[in-house]
Amino acid sequence: MSLSRNGARPLALVAAMAPDAPAGDTTLARFLSAWRASSEAVAAAEPGQACRITFARSGVEVLARPGETILQAGLRAGLDLPHSCGRGACGLCMVRRETGEVVLAQPNCLSVEDARRGFVLTCVGHARGELVVDA
Ligand code: FES
Repeated sequence: MSLSRNGARPLALVAAMAPDAPAGDTTLARFLSAWRASSEAVAAAEPGQACRITFARSGVEVLARPGETILQAGLRAGLDLPHSCGRGACGLCMVRRETGEVVLAQPNCLSVEDARRGFVLTCVGHARGELVVDA
């Protein structure tokens, strides 16, 4: 069995070891369900082709590589975009989507109200086609 440096089992290994979590272990079942949903959302969000992202406030355009998040594309372009956790948990990377479609990996901390107001999390957000964000 492969363990990380601190002895913890890598996430994928934990999921592989418990493909169907025991009915009594609701914490593990919820964790695995959320992790699988997140993985599926990311896979679905990863387009087969690059997408142009415009960071309107910065005046920067970048061609996001297939599978690259909005945050990754922006950082690669040299933008100083706020972020911290990198996995949709803290909300620091939230920006407003001006136009275009974004697919967010789940679970994440974006509230229904923020999503309704057009905000997205760049660290778990993947552009689908042309995208303009207020950043
Ligand atoms: S960096 Fe924490 S939610 Fe994106």
